[in-house]
Amino acid sequence: MRAASIIAPKTPPMTAPGKFITFEGGEGCGKSTHIMYLIARLRAAGHTVRAVREPGGTDIGEQIRHVLQYSHQSLAMTPETELLLFCASRAQLVREVIRPALRAGEIIVADRFADSTTVYQGAGRQLPLATIAALNQFAVGDCQPDLTVVLDLDPRVGLERARGRELFDRMENQSLEFYDRVRQGYLDLARREPDRVKIVDAHRSVAEVQQEIWELTRHVVG
Ligand code: TMP
Repeated sequence: MRAASIIAPKTPPMTAPGKFITFEGGEGCGKSTHIMYLIARLRAAGHTVRAVREPGGTDIGEQIRHVLQYSHQSLAMTPETELLLFCASRAQLVREVIRPALRAGEIIVADRFADSTTVYQGAGRQLPLATIAALNQFAVGDCQPDLTVVLDLDPRVGLERARGRELFDRMENQSLEFYDRVRQGYLDLARREPDRVKIVDAHRSVAEVQQEIWELTRHVVG
C-alpha cells in the first residue's frame, strides 16, 4: 500500500519482554469491569501490570479526550478531525507510556487501541480504510497488541446497559445502524487476524466471560 509505505516510521522492530493486551467492543460491552478483574488476577499472580485508556492516558492525551468528549463545539467536529485526534492521542501514549513499559517487562492492559479507530472511524463513520491503516501505522508503528479481546454484544443490549454512563455525545447519538456496523467491523477484524483478535461472547454472565478472558490471557503471558 503506497500511502503506508511513504510514512512508515524508520525505527527498527520493537522487541520487548512485556506483553500488550487490548480490550475492544461496542458501548456497554463490559470492558471496564473485565479489565478491572483481569488486572486484579494478573497482579495476584505476581505480574506488574499497567492500565491505560484511550483516548487519554497521558497529559496530552487527556486534553485531547476532553476536546473529543466535552466541548460543545465538538458536536460540529468533522469525522476527519475526530480521526486525527484519536490517532494523535495514541501516538503520544505509545511513545510516552506503552513502549517504555513493555521494554521494562510490564503487562499493558489497554481500554481500546488502534482497532477502535479502524472500526469506529472506518466501519462506523465509513472513512477510507486505507487512510486509517496508514494513520494507524504512523501513530503506533510496530507497537502491536499480543492479544486483543473483543467483547461482542448486540448493540441493542449494550446501549441499554450504557445508558446514563459517561459516553461521548457524538458517539451516543449515532444510529443503531452505526453500532451494527461497528459490531460487524470487529467481527471482520477477527476474521482477518484470528491469531491476535479473539471474539468473546459478552451476552453471558460476568463469571463466564471472565474465565474465557483469563484462558486467552494465560496463553499470552505464560
Ligand atoms: P469509552 O471510553 O466508553 O470506551 O468510549 C470511547 C468512545 O470513543 C467510544 O464511543 C468509541 C470511541 N472511539 C473512537 O471512535 N475511535 C477511537 O479510536 C477510540 C479510541 C475511541
